[in-house]
Amino acid sequence: MASVTITNVWKYYGKTVAVKDLNIHCEDGEFVSVLGPSGCGKSSTLRMLAGLEHISAGDIHFGDMRVNELEPKDRDIAMVFENYALYPHKTVYENMANPLRLRGSSEDLIEKRIAFAAEMLEIEHLLQRKPMELSGGQKQRTAIGRAIVREPKLFLFDEPIAHLDAKLRARMRGELKLMQRRLGTTMIYVTHDQLEAMSMADRIAVMHNGVLQQLGTPQEIYNHPVNEWVAGFVGEPPMNFFDCELVEEGGRFVLVHPAFRQMVSEAQSALLRGALRGTSVRMGIRPDQISIGGKSTVESVAGTIKVTEPLGGDTLVNVDLKNAQLLVKTHPDFSGAMGETCHLTFDTGRWHFFASDNGIAYF
Ligand SMILES: Nc1ncnc2c1ncn2[C@@H]1O[C@H](COP(=O)(O)OP(=O)(O)O)[C@@H](O)[C@H]1O
Ligand SMILES: [Mg+2]
Repeated sequence: MASVTITNVWKYYGKTVAVKDLNIHCEDGEFVSVLGPSGCGKSSTLRMLAGLEHISAGDIHFGDMRVNELEPKDRDIAMVFENYALYPHKTVYENMANPLRLRGSSEDLIEKRIAFAAEMLEIEHLLQRKPMELSGGQKQRTAIGRAIVREPKLFLFDEPIAHLDAKLRARMRGELKLMQRRLGTTMIYVTHDQLEAMSMADRIAVMHNGVLQQLGTPQEIYNHPVNEWVAGFVGEPPMNFFDCELVEEGGRFVLVHPAFRQMVSEAQSALLRGALRGTSVRMGIRPDQISIGGKSTVESVAGTIKVTEPLGGDTLVNVDLKNAQLLVKTHPDFSGAMGETCHLTFDTGRWHFFASDNGIAYF
């Protein structure tokens, strides 16, 4: 087992900068997910950890050992990719045995390790099959089994379940998390799917354009995004954003938008007072932090229901405001009809303000 420390790491491909000055420390036994959209530098980061890609600048340590120049085979890691790369002519058993055979392990040990991994992954009954006789999920389990039998000090997973169907993906999320917790092996898990990162990881490293945006627990990332980009990327359905002006009235701030005026609390006003640059801010509020009803109140904002989407467990309501639109997530019995006037109440304790120019969060 090992901790992983990425220090000021850069990756260039010719003139393309794929990873910019990356710093991540992952504790021994920790599950860290690297999350971001396609092309943000996730795989480049993982491949540098694996030794499959040269590090343009910076250092990578496993524990106290600097591994920059270490061959992949000497790093004691196991990787699982989206395409599982099984040997088509070998059985599941032989596919899993392969890394141990290359290492010269005894048949006894190979059998023991495969039995252990196969039981954990529930593929004992498939051991004599060949890959073409397996479903996508079973192939993926075999690839994961092949990683487990090595008992590496580090797992590197790159979108391992991205192509599985939605139901299987949901099940694999739980299983992979359980597997990692049971084995206690340090895991760096790359995904573009925020739900995977949120549900499995101890901490999430959110990347965008090769730059680490935020490193924190799922709760920190969700409740305290450091900037507008993270706030918009994490959370489904996504956060609503509004371009607003702040005016001071009687020692407190009022948030002004063409469609609404909302009081800013004393505590939030205090946070703004020291930090505010200019008077424009972007306000962000999640769809489940807005309540919707038929009655107007002092604080409520009037809108028009554009369309409702019943999802079974809850209902999404698209609302038209003056100069803006927003999405509300409400209860399944919501009965508002298209074109009806509705009244929205913002949970102003949980909204977020971002600087208009650079998107950095005030709170
Ligand atoms: N072998 C390569 N040669 C040139 N450019 C590459 C290579 N691999 C990745 N890139 C570029 O580096 C950036 C990051 O890619 P990658 O790390 O694969 O992102 P992700 O895994 O987040 O989708 C992208 O702009 C991609 O086009
Ligand atoms: Mg990738």
